[in-house]
Amino acid sequence: MRKKIVAGNWKMNKNLSEGVVLANELVEKIGALSTDVEVILGVPFTHLEKVASISDKFSVSAQNCSAHISGAYTGEISTTMIVSTGAKYVILGHSERRAYHSENNSDLAKKVDLCLNDNLDVIYCCGELLLERESGNHFEVVKNQIEEALFHLSEDDMSKVVIAYEPVWAIGTGVTATSDQAQEMHAYIRSLFADKYGSDIAQNLSILYGGSCKPSNAEDIFSKSDVDGGLIGGASLNANDFSQIINAF
Ligand code: PGA
Repeated sequence: MRKKIVAGNWKMNKNLSEGVVLANELVEKIGALSTDVEVILGVPFTHLEKVASISDKFSVSAQNCSAHISGAYTGEISTTMIVSTGAKYVILGHSERRAYHSENNSDLAKKVDLCLNDNLDVIYCCGELLLERESGNHFEVVKNQIEEALFHLSEDDMSKVVIAYEPVWAIGTGVTATSDQAQEMHAYIRSLFADKYGSDIAQNLSILYGGSCKPSNAEDIFSKSDVDGGLIGGASLNANDFSQIINAF
């Protein structure tokens, strides 16, 4: 049985004390739910240790890591540093990192390896631009993003990866993919893994949807058979909205 996951991506929002308030509000809300959903909070580096210490009702994720092990890389944060905070996951390949920090699939392959070597599970983001969907290239784009960054992994390592399909045109725009569009791409992604790694690994792979997921559409999106949860940006900054999304399964 694959895991159902709802992960928040706080991006560059909330200072430390605001983040602690939000995490505590969530603990209260999640505590009232009877759910088998794994909750993950993707918080800024500066918040990892503190937020990880608040509760075991959620795991904590970094939003990026360095592609280097250690050394003279001013301003970078290594996977070993992330592990030492108590974080369990790293979000890699978010479209904002691809767009604003020029991350490409081969940089991401290195980061994926460093995370897995340090026992950090990876939430690997993929998704097409609007132009790519309009020109019918969306399957090809997502396939390349996955093949080039992940298909060198062993079966064992692949079982520590979660995929987040986030069509770029839906991120932060209020425009959500329809649940049928999400299902179609998720089923395609699962078929790529089935072809490469076999059906057991593919069936156990959690594939999250991201892009303007909110309380009003989460239930519809999560009802699809290949959608195993969500990566939630804006709506994860509000404890009420986020807990309603967790409860939408
Ligand atoms: P959004 O962001 O929910 O605000 O669209 C999702 C994401 O970027 O992970």
